[in-house]
Amino acid sequence: MHSSKREYIMEKNYTYLANWKMNFTIEESLSFFSDHYDNFILLSKKAENLITICPSAETLHPLAQMLQGTNIELGAQDCSDVLKGPFTGQVSPLSLKQVGCSFCIIGHSEQRALGVDTNERIATKCSMLLSSEIIPVICIGENSDDYNQGLTLEKLKSQLSPIFDMLKNNTHFSTPIVLAYEPVWAIGTGKVATPDHIESVLAWLAQQTVTQTSSSYKWKFLYGGSIKASNCATLKAIPQLDGFLIGGASLDFEEFEKIVNYR
Ligand code: PGA
Repeated sequence: MHSSKREYIMEKNYTYLANWKMNFTIEESLSFFSDHYDNFILLSKKAENLITICPSAETLHPLAQMLQGTNIELGAQDCSDVLKGPFTGQVSPLSLKQVGCSFCIIGHSEQRALGVDTNERIATKCSMLLSSEIIPVICIGENSDDYNQGLTLEKLKSQLSPIFDMLKNNTHFSTPIVLAYEPVWAIGTGKVATPDHIESVLAWLAQQTVTQTSSSYKWKFLYGGSIKASNCATLKAIPQLDGFLIGGASLDFEEFEKIVNYR
Protein backbone atom coordinates (compact mmCIF):
# COMPACT_ATOMS: atom_id res chain seq x y z
CA MET A 1 0.00 0.00 0.00
CA HIS A 2 1.34 3.43 -0.92
CA SER A 3 2.85 4.95 2.21
CA SER A 4 0.88 8.21 1.98
CA LYS A 5 -2.40 6.26 1.79
CA ARG A 6 -1.34 4.07 4.71
CA GLU A 7 -0.37 7.10 6.82
CA TYR A 8 -3.65 8.81 5.95
CA ILE A 9 -5.66 5.78 7.07
CA MET A 10 -3.61 5.12 10.19
CA GLU A 11 -3.66 8.72 11.41
CA LYS A 12 -7.48 8.94 11.42
CA ASN A 13 -8.83 8.70 14.95
CA TYR A 14 -12.03 6.96 14.09
CA THR A 15 -12.98 4.62 11.26
CA TYR A 16 -16.63 4.17 10.32
CA LEU A 17 -17.32 1.29 7.98
CA ALA A 18 -20.85 1.37 6.61
CA ASN A 19 -21.71 -2.25 5.79
CA TRP A 20 -24.72 -1.96 3.52
CA LYS A 21 -24.83 -5.76 3.12
CA MET A 22 -27.32 -6.73 0.35
CA ASN A 23 -29.92 -4.21 1.46
CA PHE A 24 -29.76 -1.96 -1.59
CA THR A 25 -29.84 -2.65 -5.33
CA ILE A 26 -27.32 -0.79 -7.50
CA GLU A 27 -29.83 1.99 -8.19
CA GLU A 28 -30.86 2.27 -4.55
CA SER A 29 -27.23 2.45 -3.42
CA LEU A 30 -26.35 5.18 -5.89
CA SER A 31 -29.42 7.25 -5.14
CA PHE A 32 -28.89 6.85 -1.35
CA PHE A 33 -25.34 8.14 -1.80
CA SER A 34 -26.28 10.98 -4.15
CA ASP A 35 -29.26 12.02 -2.00
CA HIS A 36 -26.85 12.54 0.93
CA TYR A 37 -23.77 13.48 -1.08
CA ASP A 38 -23.12 16.87 0.52
CA ASN A 39 -23.52 15.54 4.04
CA PHE A 40 -21.34 12.49 3.34
CA ILE A 41 -18.65 14.88 2.11
CA LEU A 42 -18.99 17.04 5.22
CA LEU A 43 -18.57 14.00 7.48
CA SER A 44 -15.53 12.82 5.56
CA LYS A 45 -13.87 16.25 5.64
CA LYS A 46 -13.59 16.25 9.43
CA ALA A 47 -9.94 15.48 10.09
CA GLU A 48 -10.59 12.72 12.62
CA ASN A 49 -13.09 10.70 10.55
CA LEU A 50 -12.39 7.95 8.06
CA ILE A 51 -15.63 7.05 6.29
CA THR A 52 -15.73 3.84 4.27
CA ILE A 53 -18.75 2.56 2.38
CA CYS A 54 -19.04 -1.18 1.75
CA PRO A 55 -21.78 -1.71 -0.84
CA SER A 56 -22.61 -5.07 -2.41
CA ALA A 57 -20.17 -6.32 -5.06
CA GLU A 58 -22.09 -5.22 -8.15
CA THR A 59 -22.25 -1.64 -6.84
CA LEU A 60 -18.51 -1.26 -6.21
CA HIS A 61 -17.66 0.01 -9.68
CA PRO A 62 -20.40 2.64 -10.12
CA LEU A 63 -19.99 3.83 -6.53
CA ALA A 64 -16.20 4.06 -7.00
CA GLN A 65 -16.84 6.51 -9.82
CA MET A 66 -19.01 8.67 -7.57
CA LEU A 67 -16.36 8.58 -4.81
CA GLN A 68 -13.60 9.84 -7.08
CA GLY A 69 -12.09 13.05 -5.74
CA THR A 70 -13.66 12.57 -2.28
CA ASN A 71 -12.06 11.42 0.99
CA ILE A 72 -14.52 8.55 1.29
CA GLU A 73 -13.02 5.08 0.97
CA LEU A 74 -14.55 2.07 -0.73
CA GLY A 75 -14.76 -1.38 0.87
CA ALA A 76 -15.92 -4.79 -0.35
CA GLN A 77 -17.96 -7.20 1.77
CA ASP A 78 -15.99 -10.35 0.91
CA CYS A 79 -13.47 -11.75 -1.57
CA SER A 80 -12.12 -14.99 -2.95
CA ASP A 81 -9.24 -16.82 -1.27
CA VAL A 82 -7.48 -17.10 -4.63
CA LEU A 83 -6.40 -14.39 -7.04
CA LYS A 84 -7.39 -16.03 -10.35
CA GLY A 85 -8.72 -19.24 -11.82
CA PRO A 86 -11.78 -21.41 -12.41
CA PHE A 87 -13.80 -20.30 -9.36
CA THR A 88 -17.34 -19.59 -10.48
CA GLY A 89 -19.01 -16.72 -8.67
CA GLN A 90 -15.93 -15.58 -6.77
CA VAL A 91 -14.49 -12.05 -6.74
CA SER A 92 -10.71 -11.66 -6.93
CA PRO A 93 -8.88 -9.30 -4.56
CA LEU A 94 -7.00 -8.13 -7.68
CA SER A 95 -10.27 -6.90 -9.19
CA LEU A 96 -11.25 -5.29 -5.89
CA LYS A 97 -7.99 -3.37 -5.98
CA GLN A 98 -8.54 -2.32 -9.59
CA VAL A 99 -12.05 -1.10 -8.84
CA GLY A 100 -10.68 1.09 -6.04
CA CYS A 101 -11.29 -0.79 -2.79
CA SER A 102 -9.08 0.16 0.16
CA PHE A 103 -10.82 -2.26 2.54
CA CYS A 104 -12.45 -5.68 2.35
CA ILE A 105 -14.52 -7.33 5.07
CA ILE A 106 -13.77 -11.04 5.55
CA GLY A 107 -15.17 -13.60 7.97
CA HIS A 108 -18.43 -11.79 8.58
CA SER A 109 -20.68 -13.99 10.71
CA GLU A 110 -23.35 -13.97 7.98
CA GLN A 111 -20.77 -15.54 5.63
CA ARG A 112 -19.42 -17.88 8.30
CA ALA A 113 -22.99 -19.06 8.95
CA LEU A 114 -23.22 -20.29 5.35
CA GLY A 115 -20.50 -22.78 6.24
CA VAL A 116 -18.25 -21.85 3.34
CA ASP A 117 -15.77 -19.75 5.30
CA THR A 118 -13.55 -21.76 7.63
CA ASN A 119 -11.00 -20.02 9.85
CA GLU A 120 -8.27 -21.33 7.53
CA ARG A 121 -10.00 -19.99 4.43
CA ILE A 122 -10.42 -16.59 6.09
CA ALA A 123 -6.67 -16.57 6.86
CA THR A 124 -5.95 -17.28 3.17
CA LYS A 125 -8.29 -14.46 2.14
CA CYS A 126 -6.39 -12.20 4.52
CA SER A 127 -3.11 -13.18 2.91
CA MET A 128 -4.50 -12.51 -0.62
CA LEU A 129 -5.78 -9.11 0.47
CA LEU A 130 -2.45 -8.13 2.01
CA SER A 131 -0.62 -9.13 -1.16
CA SER A 132 -3.17 -7.05 -3.13
CA GLU A 133 -2.65 -4.09 -0.78
CA ILE A 134 -6.24 -4.04 0.44
CA ILE A 135 -6.85 -3.64 4.17
CA PRO A 136 -8.54 -6.78 5.53
CA VAL A 137 -11.35 -6.15 8.00
CA ILE A 138 -11.40 -9.49 9.80
CA CYS A 139 -14.66 -10.10 11.64
CA ILE A 140 -14.42 -12.26 14.72
CA GLY A 141 -16.94 -12.93 17.47
CA GLU A 142 -18.56 -15.51 19.69
CA ASN A 143 -22.14 -16.73 19.52
CA SER A 144 -24.55 -16.44 22.44
CA ASP A 145 -23.78 -19.93 23.79
CA ASP A 146 -20.06 -19.17 23.87
CA TYR A 147 -20.77 -15.84 25.53
CA ASN A 148 -23.06 -17.33 28.18
CA GLN A 149 -20.50 -20.02 28.98
CA GLY A 150 -17.65 -17.50 29.27
CA LEU A 151 -15.95 -18.93 26.18
CA THR A 152 -15.53 -15.67 24.23
CA LEU A 153 -11.72 -15.64 24.25
CA GLU A 154 -11.53 -19.36 23.44
CA LYS A 155 -13.68 -18.74 20.37
CA LEU A 156 -11.66 -15.71 19.29
CA LYS A 157 -8.44 -17.65 19.79
CA SER A 158 -9.60 -20.39 17.42
CA GLN A 159 -10.72 -17.81 14.85
CA LEU A 160 -7.42 -15.94 15.02
CA SER A 161 -4.99 -18.84 15.24
CA PRO A 162 -4.75 -19.57 11.46
CA ILE A 163 -4.45 -15.84 10.80
CA PHE A 164 -1.53 -15.45 13.20
CA ASP A 165 0.10 -18.55 11.66
CA MET A 166 -0.30 -17.06 8.19
CA LEU A 167 1.14 -13.71 9.32
CA LYS A 168 4.28 -15.41 10.65
CA ASN A 169 5.13 -16.31 7.02
CA ASN A 170 3.94 -13.05 5.51
CA THR A 171 5.97 -9.95 4.81
CA HIS A 172 3.33 -7.55 3.49
CA PHE A 173 3.76 -5.20 6.40
CA SER A 174 2.79 -2.06 4.53
CA THR A 175 -0.96 -2.76 4.61
CA PRO A 176 -2.68 -2.25 8.00
CA ILE A 177 -4.98 -4.98 9.37
CA VAL A 178 -8.35 -4.32 11.01
CA LEU A 179 -9.88 -6.65 13.58
CA ALA A 180 -13.62 -6.09 13.95
CA TYR A 181 -14.95 -7.61 17.14
CA GLU A 182 -18.58 -8.44 16.37
CA PRO A 183 -20.33 -10.70 18.89
CA VAL A 184 -22.70 -12.77 16.74
CA TRP A 185 -25.47 -12.30 19.30
CA ALA A 186 -25.22 -8.52 18.89
CA ILE A 187 -25.47 -8.35 15.08
CA GLY A 188 -28.82 -7.01 13.96
CA THR A 189 -30.42 -7.95 17.29
CA GLY A 190 -30.51 -4.60 19.10
CA LYS A 191 -28.33 -6.12 21.86
CA VAL A 192 -24.98 -4.40 22.41
CA ALA A 193 -22.05 -5.85 24.32
CA THR A 194 -21.28 -4.01 27.55
CA PRO A 195 -18.32 -1.60 27.54
CA ASP A 196 -16.59 -3.78 30.16
CA HIS A 197 -16.88 -6.85 27.96
CA ILE A 198 -15.67 -4.96 24.86
CA GLU A 199 -12.78 -3.42 26.80
CA SER A 200 -11.61 -6.78 28.11
CA VAL A 201 -11.81 -8.31 24.61
CA LEU A 202 -9.91 -5.38 23.08
CA ALA A 203 -7.20 -5.55 25.74
CA TRP A 204 -6.80 -9.27 25.00
CA LEU A 205 -6.75 -8.67 21.24
CA ALA A 206 -4.11 -5.97 21.55
CA GLN A 207 -1.97 -8.25 23.71
CA GLN A 208 -2.40 -11.15 21.23
CA THR A 209 -1.35 -9.05 18.25
CA VAL A 210 1.77 -7.95 20.14
CA THR A 211 2.77 -11.42 21.30
CA GLN A 212 1.75 -13.42 18.21
CA THR A 213 2.74 -11.19 15.30
CA SER A 214 5.63 -9.07 14.09
CA SER A 215 5.71 -5.54 15.45
CA SER A 216 5.91 -4.37 11.81
CA TYR A 217 2.16 -4.94 11.40
CA LYS A 218 -0.17 -2.03 12.07
CA TRP A 219 -3.53 -2.89 13.63
CA LYS A 220 -6.86 -1.17 14.15
CA PHE A 221 -9.66 -2.47 16.36
CA LEU A 222 -13.34 -1.94 15.60
CA TYR A 223 -16.57 -2.98 17.30
CA GLY A 224 -19.71 -3.98 15.43
CA GLY A 225 -23.14 -5.15 16.49
CA SER A 226 -26.33 -3.06 16.83
CA ILE A 227 -24.55 0.29 16.99
CA LYS A 228 -27.06 3.14 16.99
CA ALA A 229 -27.05 6.85 17.73
CA SER A 230 -28.69 6.04 21.07
CA ASN A 231 -25.90 3.72 22.27
CA CYS A 232 -22.79 5.14 20.59
CA ALA A 233 -21.93 7.44 23.53
CA THR A 234 -20.92 4.55 25.80
CA LEU A 235 -19.11 2.81 22.94
CA LYS A 236 -17.18 5.95 21.99
CA ALA A 237 -15.98 6.22 25.59
CA ILE A 238 -13.98 2.99 25.16
CA PRO A 239 -10.42 4.25 24.77
CA GLN A 240 -8.93 1.29 22.85
CA LEU A 241 -11.57 1.44 20.11
CA ASP A 242 -10.55 2.77 16.67
CA GLY A 243 -14.02 2.73 15.16
CA PHE A 244 -17.20 0.94 14.25
CA LEU A 245 -18.53 -1.52 11.69
CA ILE A 246 -22.11 -0.37 11.22
CA GLY A 247 -24.81 -2.44 9.56
CA GLY A 248 -28.47 -1.48 10.02
CA ALA A 249 -27.79 2.08 11.21
CA SER A 250 -25.76 2.84 8.07
CA LEU A 251 -28.92 2.45 5.96
CA ASP A 252 -30.48 5.51 7.62
CA PHE A 253 -28.28 8.50 6.81
CA GLU A 254 -29.45 10.67 9.73
CA GLU A 255 -28.73 7.85 12.18
CA PHE A 256 -25.31 7.23 10.62
CA GLU A 257 -24.52 10.97 10.73
CA LYS A 258 -25.46 11.19 14.41
CA ILE A 259 -23.13 8.27 15.22
CA VAL A 260 -20.23 9.86 13.33
CA ASN A 261 -20.83 13.32 14.77
CA TYR A 262 -21.27 12.23 18.39
CA ARG A 263 -18.48 13.67 20.54
P1 PGA B 1 -25.67 -4.30 12.69
O1 PGA B 1 -24.65 -5.11 11.77
O2 PGA B 1 -25.06 -2.95 12.93
O3 PGA B 1 -26.93 -4.24 11.88
O4 PGA B 1 -25.82 -5.09 13.95
C1 PGA B 1 -23.26 -5.03 11.98
C2 PGA B 1 -22.57 -5.95 11.04
O5 PGA B 1 -23.14 -6.99 10.67
O6 PGA B 1 -21.43 -5.69 10.62
